This record gives sequence, C-alpha cells and structure tokens, in this order.
Amino acid sequence: MREIFPELLVKIWIFVYNESMNTVQRTYVIESEKIKGEKTFLVLSDLHGTKVEHFLLEKVKELSPDGIFYVGDMADSIKHQPVTESLMQKLSAYPSYAVFGNHEYSARLIGRMEHFAKENGIRYLRGDGVDLGANIALYGLDDRYVGKDFERQKRALKGRKEGSFSILLAHRPDDYDFFEEAGFDLVLCGHTHGGQIRIGAINGLYAPGQGIFPKYAGGEYQLGKTKMIVGRGLVQNALPRWGNPPEYVTIHLKGKKV
Ligand SMILES: [Fe+2]
Repeated sequence: MREIFPELLVKIWIFVYNESMNTVQRTYVIESEKIKGEKTFLVLSDLHGTKVEHFLLEKVKELSPDGIFYVGDMADSIKHQPVTESLMQKLSAYPSYAVFGNHEYSARLIGRMEHFAKENGIRYLRGDGVDLGANIALYGLDDRYVGKDFERQKRALKGRKEGSFSILLAHRPDDYDFFEEAGFDLVLCGHTHGGQIRIGAINGLYAPGQGIFPKYAGGEYQLGKTKMIVGRGLVQNALPRWGNPPEYVTIHLKGKKV
C-alpha cells in the first residue's frame, strides 16, 4: 500500500493536469428586450503564443459566428507574432473587433498590431464603437497602460448615445466600477487566466491586478444592471492551470419579449 500511494498520487496529478490543459468552449446566453433578433459572437483573449489553430479553426467554422471579439493579450512578444498573426489572419474572414491588453503595450506592439489589423480588416476599438446590427452596439477600451488616453477613452464611452444593447470590450475586469457607472449592458474581459488554480469553491488562486483569491477571476458577474463576463483565456504556458482549463467564449444574444 505504501508503494502504491505515491504512484497513485502522481497518476491523479497527471490526470488532473492533462484535463486542465484541454481547451473548453464556454457558452453564455444573454437575453434582452433591447436586442432585435439573434447573434452569436466568439470571444478570444490571452493567447500568449499558444498554438490553437489545429482545433480552433474547425470549431469556429462549425459555430459560424456573426463576429469575433479579441479582448487583449493576443500579442505579447515579437517571438510569438507569427502565432498571433496567423490565427487572427485566418479568422479575419469574420467581422473582427479588438482591444489592446497590457502585453501589447509592454511588448511595444501597438503600432505593428494596428498596421496588421488595418491590412486584414480587423478593427481596434479605442474609446469608440460600431453598430453590429440587431440594435447591438459594440465599444472598446484600451488597457489602462495607455495612461492619459485611457481617461479620454473612458470619457468618450460615457458620452456615447444610448438606446442599443451595449457591449464593451475591456481587457481587464479591474475597472468594474466604471463599467457599472457607464451603464453598459454587457462587458467582456480577459487578463486573469482564470486565476491559474481552481479547486472546489475557490474560483482562482491569483490574478494580476487583483492578488490572491481574486473576486473576478473568471465567469459571469452581475454589477448592478451590467453583466460582466471574464474569459479565462487560451494561454497554456509554464504556469500550471490546475482545474482551470484554457477556454474560448461564445455569447448568444437574443431578443426577449417584454
Ligand atoms: Fe493581461
């Protein structure tokens, strides 16, 4: 028994570790009387050089979304640019909208990503918005690394025209007070990598910006009238993701009869 026990523990560890590395699709259905019709969007974040094309391209084809939203940290270093650009280029057949995360800033990739996006018809939203049809409006906010412009973008977003179902793409969930105050219907975030480790009731052990036992590590949150969804990201790197598989998010938006 003494010899079997450590061996069993190792086997359990390997099983949970492997299970935690299989990327999952997380789906949210959101209904609102403001939405006229039905739309499906794919939400991707926090790629950090992870190779996902071998399974994701086929999945996206099956889903046939009305658009793709990138919520930051898709690019993080010049070394990973071929992985980032190949994926985003292949998915650019779908209407694509993006915001910058902290890693696009720290790796000084803003200029390069803007140029790449322009060439591939991908639209970065930086304090501005687009009409997605079905009375849905999409807005985007840079990561706060941008300094002064971050404040300008927040002011611009607060002054937006209301009436549509409003979605905000914002890389990190830390600005939850602003999301609620600005009255968005839905906010889509990433950045936290699901808090790396999830065991039982612990939804995340650590997330940058929030510290240990982060409140907004991943999942769905209600901030007054604003719903916030935090995606756990696609990243698979040297840091273990225990009980916290990488994920991509789909959101189904539907009209609701009053
Ligand atoms: Fe981030």
